[in-house]
Amino acid sequence: MSPGYFDERVAAGYDAGSAEMFESEVVDATVDFLADLAGGGRALELGIGTGRVALPLRRRGVAVHGIDLSEPMVARMRAKPGGDDVGVTIGDFATTKVDETFGLAYLVFNTITNLTSQDEQVACFRNVAAHLETGGRFVIEVFVPELRRLPPGETVLPFTVTPTKLDFDEYDVATQTLQSHHYRVVDGELEIFSLPFRYVWPGELDLMARLAGMTLRERWGGWNREPFTGDCRSHVSVWEKTAAP
Ligand SMILES: C[S@@+](CC[C@H](N)C(=O)[O-])C[C@H]1O[C@@H](n2cnc3c(N)ncnc32)[C@H](O)[C@@H]1O
Repeated sequence: MSPGYFDERVAAGYDAGSAEMFESEVVDATVDFLADLAGGGRALELGIGTGRVALPLRRRGVAVHGIDLSEPMVARMRAKPGGDDVGVTIGDFATTKVDETFGLAYLVFNTITNLTSQDEQVACFRNVAAHLETGGRFVIEVFVPELRRLPPGETVLPFTVTPTKLDFDEYDVATQTLQSHHYRVVDGELEIFSLPFRYVWPGELDLMARLAGMTLRERWGGWNREPFTGDCRSHVSVWEKTAAP
């Protein structure tokens, strides 16, 4: 299976390139939140990657299974301590089935937007619902589209600008998609990496959840249960499976 955009080269630089997401303050808050919701049950991580969240959650005693398209990303997790304690199914998390049910499913670090069409995002909610026990929870962490920062006629929003690192998003509001561009100077060489996303609104996610038989239970501005306000740049949302999809 194709690893998609998370190929060998991207996987090799993933942990270092996302260093701020591996800081203990970030990981601990994420794992506290998820362990609390798991309540002793099993958890399914969609887009498990290199195990940033799954491995510490496993160390908290939560049995975790992952789905991911990318063998190179999963190989990085396997090479870490405890990496063999987490089962992984290689496949597309919008459609791939695991022969188990879970009390918790989660999709963090904006990864729902790696699905670049509404149909795929809707399918993902349905796939999650099919894996959740009734009363089970689905957690998403994703950015709020930054269209308030984008004046008419402009398409580009930079979010890191340093002499060695440049990141910017190029929005297409007609298709509700963006291309995220990343430029790095590493050992004097320029590395460029771009990948596509479909940005999605909180209310649209709630509708996808409803189509899949889930109901919004919580929405926070972050993992420490900060209030979600109009100024939040991301949210952590929790839906409960309330009905058969
Ligand atoms: C941004 S990384 C997040 C990894 C990990 N969850 C974390 O928080 O560090 C996104 C991961 O999702 C995987 N991914 C993206 N789209 C996918 C899809 N449609 N099906 C399965 N995995 C996918 C990528 O291979 C990658 O490992």
